Amino acid sequence: MSMKSLLPTVMVFGGNGFLGSKIVTEFLNTNRYNVIVASRSLAGKQHSLSHSPFLQYKSVDIFNPATYKSILTNVDHVVHSIGIINPNENYKKIINSKTPCQFANGLMDYFFKSTTKNTSAVDKNVNQYELYNYQSCKILADVFKDVIKSSNTNTSTHKRSFTYISAEETPLVKNFISADYITTKRKAELHVLQYEDYFTPIILRPGFMYDENSTDTTPRSAIACILNNSNIIKNKSFTCSIQSVSKEVVRKIEDPKFQEGGIITLADIKRDFI
Ligand SMILES: NC(=O)c1ccc[n+]([C@@H]2O[C@H](COP(=O)([O-])OP(=O)(O)OC[C@H]3O[C@@H](n4cnc5c(N)ncnc54)[C@H](OP(=O)(O)O)[C@@H]3O)[C@@H](O)[C@H]2O)c1
Repeated sequence: MSMKSLLPTVMVFGGNGFLGSKIVTEFLNTNRYNVIVASRSLAGKQHSLSHSPFLQYKSVDIFNPATYKSILTNVDHVVHSIGIINPNENYKKIINSKTPCQFANGLMDYFFKSTTKNTSAVDKNVNQYELYNYQSCKILADVFKDVIKSSNTNTSTHKRSFTYISAEETPLVKNFISADYITTKRKAELHVLQYEDYFTPIILRPGFMYDENSTDTTPRSAIACILNNSNIIKNKSFTCSIQSVSKEVVRKIEDPKFQEGGIITLADIKRDFI
């Protein structure tokens, strides 16, 4: 048996997203896991460790379990890092723009181009927060629970786990984001927490996230800088880095005292890593 097959396997849904790609790197850096990146399109961010023999890419549609159910049979830890803060995905072009030209194009797309998401097996009329923040998590957690339930092999020495990336209701969220954002996040949390008998439910509630290693000047880095340094909101916890959230995911999965799972708030993340 190869060394690779002895290691536990983590499958990160949304593993090429802003946070997901950092979570993948964090697991790979431990040298203790096989990692599967699962996302809709495999285009986009390439991982710095994409050459690693411990890394695989799978193209999946989270709303269509046929695209990943068989893979879950051999998965020990699932991470769900898919969700929306705004139903118009073009907001990401604005917030991540590196030049005034990209910013202007992002604004044009936001106001004049509709975003049609490439998803199957779902009712397109359903509220997008409900779909991406709640339904996507519900579908994945249900399938993982069923796979564990019907699994005859009891060879795993560790309890399996399911990590859901939720969100903290900071004043920023309360004042500027639709209430559906947090409502659907909380609904998903409750759904995952009920499966404690099957896997360790791990819920993380980050605030506004930034990349602490990025040297790019973008609206995202500017907002993070203002929130971190402004005198008016000093000592108020609104932000955290993708590095601290990723480290917390690995830490909680490996923590023997966290086998029953639970909710990790933004304050917990900051206490542990900042
Ligand atoms: N960003 C923040 O400041 C922030 C703050 C608090 C909480 N959060 C939460 O953190 C999580 C991750 O956020 P993020 O900013 O990293 O998101 P992101 O960059 O938009 O990444 C989303 C990921 O989901 C994948 N995806 C979307 N639809 C899919 C589908 N139908 N099937 C499979 N994969 C699909 C995307 O894959 P493709 O690229 O291939 O389409 C991408 O990898 C979300 O739950 C978000 O609500 C974010």
